Amino acid sequence: MKPVPLHLLPDTATVQADGSLAIGGCDVGELAGRFGTPLFIYDEAHLRARCAEAVAAFGPGRAYYATKAFLCTAMARLAYEEGMHLDVASGGELYVALRAGVPANALAFHGNNKSLAELRMAITEGVRHIVVDSFDELDRLDSLHAEGLPAPKVLARITPGVHAHTHEFIATGQDDSKFGFNLGNGDAHKAVDRMRRSLSVQLEGVHCHIGSNVFEAGNFAKAAEVMAAFAMPLDLPELVLGGGLGVPYVQGEEAPSISQWGNVLLDACQALGVRSNVCVEPGRSIVAGAAITLYTVGTVKHIPGVRTYVSVDGGMSDNPRPVLYGSGYEAFLARAVLAPRPERARLVGKHCESGDVLIFDAGLPQDVRVNDLLATPVTGAYGHSMASNYNKLTRPPVVFVRDGAARLVVRRETYEDLVQCDVG
Ligand code: LLP
Repeated sequence: MKPVPLHLLPDTATVQADGSLAIGGCDVGELAGRFGTPLFIYDEAHLRARCAEAVAAFGPGRAYYATKAFLCTAMARLAYEEGMHLDVASGGELYVALRAGVPANALAFHGNNKSLAELRMAITEGVRHIVVDSFDELDRLDSLHAEGLPAPKVLARITPGVHAHTHEFIATGQDDSKFGFNLGNGDAHKAVDRMRRSLSVQLEGVHCHIGSNVFEAGNFAKAAEVMAAFAMPLDLPELVLGGGLGVPYVQGEEAPSISQWGNVLLDACQALGVRSNVCVEPGRSIVAGAAITLYTVGTVKHIPGVRTYVSVDGGMSDNPRPVLYGSGYEAFLARAVLAPRPERARLVGKHCESGDVLIFDAGLPQDVRVNDLLATPVTGAYGHSMASNYNKLTRPPVVFVRDGAARLVVRRETYEDLVQCDVG
């Protein structure tokens, strides 16, 4: 297997004279020495460039960063500084964004089962939009209005009946979905009628999200067409077409850029004569390629005639995507970025189960050995955000690197953190 494809690495990644990796002008080996492993290393220039690209493509305030992909105080601030609004999908995400100093009127609040308390929080804080997902949620909004809360500005989440080509767990636009009001069976029209007549909400637009890690521009164009046809007669100020743009994770994968995605969506809307503001909510395409995860190899076990297992000091607790979705990743040695990778091995973590796999069939350099620093690229989205404490592993820290400087933005959890919530 060839060396790791360099286009999978963060924008500012460079191969140093000795063949080792630097990102943001920082030597990755030194970062491991300073912060330990496992370690999420984010290229700040890469993050800022993707935010700026989304804002340039759609216009200021029309690109919402989907915080579920990766959220911490520094990331919320960075996205907002670059001109993005933020999409939050729980009271917790809302709390972190507000705590980071992002104004409530730059936030859209999502979720298919928002609690009364979460809705109350969103209204009291004054979020820009609540994206309403069900008739039960409308009942809850009625009851909050009856309590005396103001009528929030809302969007109606529509399930457009467009099937996106992606893993079934992350496809959301098809009829058989827990999300939104179904367009095909008339629920979408009923919901919009109710919201237009309601005194408890102010309907400002419609929303859809067909799925995540979608590579085909045609899927997005189709959703834009269906939504435009639905939205035009309503003549509302906002049309939100969700996130979902895929990114390449492994050799051979290709995805449209954010600018190309913007052209597909905006051209489709323009062709149909949409006059509303067209907004989007990218998550993965902003952050995925910006980060690598750095691990230390702990054991190399050859089982003759069966396979080789290479174990690292993290695993399914910092990246559950291979186990959940069968997602592919690449791995390479931080000391030898350009080394060919002829050795076949299963890259596994340190959790107490056989399902704890990071790469089912990895190509690795022949001389991979204990104490080597092994990196997996494209781990900036849905890695840290879906991390767990399984087996009471402490969640890894996050470092932002830029212009030769590294700043710790999330510290490593400590053993003491693991018992913080225990009261008995
Ligand atoms: N808007 C809504 C309403 C969403 O539900 C999502 C993602 C996004 C925007 C952002 O989508 P993105 O641009 O990141 O594709 N854990 C899965 C992905 C779940 C996505 C959930 N919703 C994974 O690791 O692939």
